[in-house]
Amino acid sequence: PINEPVYDYGVGTKERDNLKSALKDVLSKKVEIALIIGGKEIKTENTVDIRCPHQHDIVLGQYYQAGKEEIKLAIESAMNAKKNWAKIDFQERAAIFLKAAELLSTKYRYLMNATTMLSISKNVFQAEIDCVCELIDFLRFNVKFAEKIYEDQPISPKGFWNRMQYRPLEGFVFAVPPFNFVSISGNLPTAPVIMGNVSIWKPASSAVYPSYLFMKILQEAGLPDGVINFVPAKGSTIGDLVFSSREFAGLHFTGSYETFNYMWKTIANNISNYITYPRIVGETGGKDFIFAHNSANVKSLIAAIIRGSFEYQGQKCSAVSRVYIPKLMFNSFKDEFLNELSKIKMGSPEDFTNFMNAVIDRESFDKIKSYIDYAINSNEASILFGGKCDDSVGYFVEPTVIVTENPHFKTMEEEIFGPVVTFYPYDDNKFEETLYLCDKTSIYGLTGAIFAQDRNAINIATEVLESSAGNFYINDKPTGAVVGQQPFGGARASGTNDKAGSLLNLIRWTSARSVKETF
Ligand code: SER
Repeated sequence: PINEPVYDYGVGTKERDNLKSALKDVLSKKVEIALIIGGKEIKTENTVDIRCPHQHDIVLGQYYQAGKEEIKLAIESAMNAKKNWAKIDFQERAAIFLKAAELLSTKYRYLMNATTMLSISKNVFQAEIDCVCELIDFLRFNVKFAEKIYEDQPISPKGFWNRMQYRPLEGFVFAVPPFNFVSISGNLPTAPVIMGNVSIWKPASSAVYPSYLFMKILQEAGLPDGVINFVPAKGSTIGDLVFSSREFAGLHFTGSYETFNYMWKTIANNISNYITYPRIVGETGGKDFIFAHNSANVKSLIAAIIRGSFEYQGQKCSAVSRVYIPKLMFNSFKDEFLNELSKIKMGSPEDFTNFMNAVIDRESFDKIKSYIDYAINSNEASILFGGKCDDSVGYFVEPTVIVTENPHFKTMEEEIFGPVVTFYPYDDNKFEETLYLCDKTSIYGLTGAIFAQDRNAINIATEVLESSAGNFYINDKPTGAVVGQQPFGGARASGTNDKAGSLLNLIRWTSARSVKETF
């Protein structure tokens, strides 16, 4: 496959008109989002309002939350659906996901973008590359990776036939995505399902709307009832039931380090109850960096810091949140950097000229603000740009640049998940020493970038930072990995590093049987 082309929605284009009318549509109706269990829409007594993060008095609709009964039913439905799903031919399964990709690319492209822009506050470009292009890429590429796995067969000497049967896991897979990428939300249940598994999908509470739309698209593409069960629920309610279920066979997770650890421990406590050892695949946080050498190209460095730190309000596990820069370079770079920062427009995604929108919800807003306040009140840091937060209309946080001389300052070490980046200007003759410092500064190992024109500096950085970033970029921002181009994931506290969008991920969702036949 090739990557889904990104539309630009420029002024005067047909695409822009279509998207504008989809935005109007989404705003003019109130959506009612039911659970989808065993193919049926189910409503409960618990409802949650869906609001626009950039204007919290706008209610887009509501979703129903599952209780214990519905969760049990979802597990039962998944296990029932498994009997057939595991048996049908791979090509028959694959066709459903390729059809869903096609529906997303054509019929639902605008609606999906509009839903994403309004409900999780993404600008048009950020929505397009996520809920349309990356999600389509995951589907098409995962089918390709699965094909490769199935093709891989052992050799057979004369008189024998050896074969590998790539069976699904014995049980169901629990898919728990974050709010920030619709593509990840869609990938977590579908990757295991492409390999013949069934899944319980708990979308993120603050991002139910676009995931629901994707679930409907999968159904329209022919996904049999019960193969994926769409179950918005409170994390603790669904977690308790899923992890104590004998049929729990896999966790496909993206979210926080703390939640993942909690889940892993819960799974460990239940380990002797399961039919099989569960596969645990998780991508967690990051404290991603840009490291500049004094040979760096300043223009591309500035562009990378701004895009890497502030696109989607810094709410990416890959977002740049610490920058190491030589002191001399920092002094000469500041004016141009500040000038570029001052051009950033922030507001509603309905205005396509806004580069930034709101952060997801009150909880995030408060958390990000507390880090900024901490820096404002500290005598170890100063605010170079931004720092204001305003939640009167929506959850807006200015792009914020903190500068510190303490390489272990709180905002240099902890994940903030917002538009806040901290600079540590280092002594010009301490390049290598600072690289080691960068490596040791955080528990995470997700993404990072070196900016240098000097080949020797690139080589040293690549070596010293070997484990600091599962996705390492040379002279580019460390965000925006493309499926099929940069398989994504990190180690250390950033996850199990089973690269999303690669064969390494798909292979976790099979439990192969090796068969030897003697003639
Ligand atoms: N894959 C995304 C990126 O590279 C993060 O999840 O930015």
